[in-house]
Amino acid sequence: MKIIFALGLMSVIALIMIAACTPVPVATPVPASTLVPVTPTRVASPTAIATKAPPATVVPTPGAQVSFKNEILPILKENCVRCHGGSKPLQELSLETYAGVLKGGISGLAVKPRDPENSIMIRYLQIDFMPFEIEPKLTRDQKQKIINWVAAGAPDN
Ligand code: HEC
Repeated sequence: MKIIFALGLMSVIALIMIAACTPVPVATPVPASTLVPVTPTRVASPTAIATKAPPATVVPTPGAQVSFKNEILPILKENCVRCHGGSKPLQELSLETYAGVLKGGISGLAVKPRDPENSIMIRYLQIDFMPFEIEPKLTRDQKQKIINWVAAGAPDN
């Protein structure tokens, strides 16, 4: 009799232990009315864009000579300095002077001499991300000049 009682007690304890180990579902369903749609962010971060391989639309012309003062600066002045100029240039990138172009902005160097592939400025131009948004984009010829200038070592000439 005692043995039967003991066995019965043990099986009750075992059942309690099994029940205690079974996970109780905690997630309670959220009522549909509290779900708000997630608004997508407008532009990707500079790093996301810079690390995305752009379509190589313009490739450097080997040995091309480009003058910064006569050919590059006028393009920048006409298309870029209204945002990247003045006392508070966007992204702290001033494209008004040679020193400003070489200094770069908040993401670091915009132009890496002899390395157009890894120059943020060239990448942004290749994918027509700059000039920003609805601004008219550079022509293929203008992009070609800038990429040739960077490939030639971005000289102050
Ligand atoms: C209408 C204003 C506007 C014009 C014009 C414009 N940009 Fe920008 N530029 C921006 C904005 C805004 C950003 C930041 C966008 C981002 O990185 O998400 C930016 C970022 C950049 C950056 C990255 C800077 C950094 O350090 O993060 C480069 C390089 C750049 N622009 C080059 C140019 C060039 C070259 C031109 C002209 C061909 C140009 N931009 C014209 C608004 C402009």
